[in-house]
Amino acid sequence: MGNPVDHSKSPWIHARFAELTGEPVEYGKRLIGLDEFPPAVRAFVAEGGKGCNITVPFKFQAAALVTRRSARAALAEACNILTFRDGEILGDNTDGIGFVADVERNAGVPLAGRDVLLLGAGGASAGVLGPVLEARPARVVVANRTLAKAQALVQRHAALAQSLGLQLEASGLDSVAGRFDLVVNGTASSLSGGGVPVVARVLQPGALAYDMMYGPAAEGFLQWAREHGAQGRDGLGMLVEQAAEAFLIWRGVRPPSPQVLAELRRELAG
Ligand code: ATR
Repeated sequence: MGNPVDHSKSPWIHARFAELTGEPVEYGKRLIGLDEFPPAVRAFVAEGGKGCNITVPFKFQAAALVTRRSARAALAEACNILTFRDGEILGDNTDGIGFVADVERNAGVPLAGRDVLLLGAGGASAGVLGPVLEARPARVVVANRTLAKAQALVQRHAALAQSLGLQLEASGLDSVAGRFDLVVNGTASSLSGGGVPVVARVLQPGALAYDMMYGPAAEGFLQWAREHGAQGRDGLGMLVEQAAEAFLIWRGVRPPSPQVLAELRRELAG
């Protein structure tokens, strides 16, 4: 469920997961009117829907609607997956673990001990920060155009960071100190034609520069990464891995996500 959903790849991804695992899954997409999210969820439950993914702009509303939510969804204050069971609406967020899985397993960059710069403090960044911290990097800086939003996001995660013994800081975009092994673009800058929101000196030589978007929206950031000696990666793997985690929650079976990611890249390139 989302608005817009026209270009969503999720039905394609879940159809492949179902085929490859032999699980009986029927997964479609629904365009929901901007003021119609809660009744749309109730209607879907009444029709016998077992669960759904939630995309822009309803992830925050979803978190408010659920009867129970996971710890990571509570930290993110957003849900990308709902499961309907025993009269309850269970909310979770698989964006962050999907992101970490793509970075660590698919890109081959373990986060433990690394310095991470997260650009942006909106929904995309909020969705990944908790699982990034749980992967035990050495230092995480959240940098945002509006410093107060970065500070609020950091504050919400301060207890988790402290319990893990990690350094977590907020910064403005133009005052980021140091260099980073992983620079993650979670801003919507490319959508507003704003370009890359940070200076290239934040990149450690050979750093991974990751844009949570994919397709044309990620192109500027990836080109910037290449021009400055970094390895660029778009968010297509995160999309497939968050779907794989959702599939696992619903069906109890882990689908072969690297295979499906490779197939989806070929599909989009063709
Ligand atoms: P999403 O759910 O996609 O994260 P969002 O919650 O509206 O969307 O957040 C958008 C993020 O992109 C914010 O961090 C925003 O910065 P502000 O908090 O200062 O608004 C950031 N952003 C959007 N346009 C930007 C630009 N041109 N330069 C830098 N950051 C930008």
